[in-house]
Amino acid sequence: NLDAQQGLDYVFKLVLIGDSAVGKSQLLSRFTRNDFSLVAKATIGVEFQTKTIMIDHKTVKAQVWDTAGQERYRAVTSAYYRGALGAMLVYDITKQQSFEHASRWLKEIRSHADRNIIIMLIGNKCDLGTLRAVSTEDAKQFAQDENLFFMETSALESTNVETAFLMVLSEIY
Ligand code: GTP
Ligand code: MG
Repeated sequence: NLDAQQGLDYVFKLVLIGDSAVGKSQLLSRFTRNDFSLVAKATIGVEFQTKTIMIDHKTVKAQVWDTAGQERYRAVTSAYYRGALGAMLVYDITKQQSFEHASRWLKEIRSHADRNIIIMLIGNKCDLGTLRAVSTEDAKQFAQDENLFFMETSALESTNVETAFLMVLSEIY
């Protein structure tokens, strides 16, 4: 098979999920291309990018899917989650509502994805500390109650982006 030809030991599918404008697409381009844009356009439909990394001397290709937070631009939900081994549930630390919606997104993940899926709650835009609306403590508590990994990130400043993806990928591995 093609993956074996490319010298890959594993291909892991991850999905990004969360409200519009929380920074899902920018987290993805930071992780896969070390790129960031402040004038990003809302995602329409589904896109994916890949990045190959080494875990424990094995070659692992992360195939990360990204869809629109906006309902009207979203693709078919069941296809999006099919085969996903990890999910990054993203909110914006400056937007309380994006955090409140996390439970809704979680419900969607849990009703469509494999029940062993590894889920990480991500509070993005931690570079905007002066505008913070969601405390780290509240998010940590929610993550603990719901059995999620948790990390605050900044796609802009590159804070914890690679760490977050690698943690989910290692957990799957
Ligand atoms: P949809 O595709 O509509 O679901 O949105 P999205 O979640 O993909 O958001 P996107 O990545 O397009 O980012 C939305 C806006 O937030 C853009 O203007 C980004 O530049 C900005 N942004 C993303 N990440 C960060 C971050 O870590 N810090 C700051 N300050 N801005 C960010
Ligand atoms: Mg997007």
